[in-house]
Amino acid sequence: MEGLDKLRGDWLARIGEAADEGALEEIRVAALGKKGEISLKMRELGKMSPEERQTAGPALNALKDEVNSALSARKSSLGDAALEARLATEWLDVTLPSRPRRVGSIHPVSQVTEEVTAIFADMGFAVAEGPQIDSDWYNFDALNIPGHHPARAEMDTFYMARAEGDNRPPHVLRTHTSPVQIRHMEAHGAPCRIIAPGRVYRADYDQTHTPMFHQVEGLAIDRDISMANLKWVLEEFFSAYFGTKVKTRFRASHFPFTEPSAEVDIQCSWEGGTVKVGEGDDWLEVLGSGMVHPKVLSAAKVDPAEWQGFAFGMGIDRIAMLKYGIPDLRAFFDSDLRWLRHYGFAALQVPAVHSGV
Ligand code: PHE
Repeated sequence: MEGLDKLRGDWLARIGEAADEGALEEIRVAALGKKGEISLKMRELGKMSPEERQTAGPALNALKDEVNSALSARKSSLGDAALEARLATEWLDVTLPSRPRRVGSIHPVSQVTEEVTAIFADMGFAVAEGPQIDSDWYNFDALNIPGHHPARAEMDTFYMARAEGDNRPPHVLRTHTSPVQIRHMEAHGAPCRIIAPGRVYRADYDQTHTPMFHQVEGLAIDRDISMANLKWVLEEFFSAYFGTKVKTRFRASHFPFTEPSAEVDIQCSWEGGTVKVGEGDDWLEVLGSGMVHPKVLSAAKVDPAEWQGFAFGMGIDRIAMLKYGIPDLRAFFDSDLRWLRHYGFAALQVPAVHSGV
């Protein structure tokens, strides 16, 4: 059949030049659609003689097949090219270093609490906790501070509100961690050996006082615990905490919940205008302590005829300032990011006994 070669050449050339899938579809319709050029040619077969048809039929069919497969080959190569182009524009360099992110820091109070906990844990003390809002019974009465006692007034207590007409004594923001002594002995009895770190509240504000601050309570109850044990434990603690041998000085004092009572100073020097713990001839007060008063044991349902022990309460913020040379207590709670970055600790700086960080 004449003209077939030209037809093949033309269509294959157009297919080869099709720029996208849309153009390719137009070509398919123009060649093989109902009124396409090749389809019309096939319709002419009917008018041919059987002999002519015998050669023209297969030739046309072959052409149709050839055009069809050229169309699908072109289609898939256009698809590949489109994908290549997309991959090229959406390319991402995963080897680039990521943008730096600001990491937070551990607050000195958290860090020191962890250090204190690690050191006391090493001496067999477990950690106990109590509520920050407590009843006046736990905060005062059970600790041998009855309603009329001057110590109540000295504590600058924050009282919670009661509903109108409710005449029960109001709860308080605990003024010290000592109520945890009562709660722990009540729940677990004797013997016991615990520390209780946490927040406490007093209405007081100047360079060395903030209305919220941190204490750690210590309590050791057994059959024959004495002041000597207290002194050893505290000296052991301070030496581990400050990373140097620290002498202590016990001064007779008074707390309603201990008898006898002592305030404890640690040795320091003020030479050069900065305080150094563990050297020199000066003393710094860091805690209150004593032998737990029999009335306190009784209030917590522990028999004072059988059990005795020591308790102490230490300012965490205070010893943090001393160890890390932080001059103003109020800055602890200002949430100033520059301060936090300067005095904060890296998250992975895990405190350990004698780590000396
Ligand atoms: N609770 C006392 C205070 O806050 C400290 C203390 C605790 C004293 C335990 C003796 C025994 O000042």
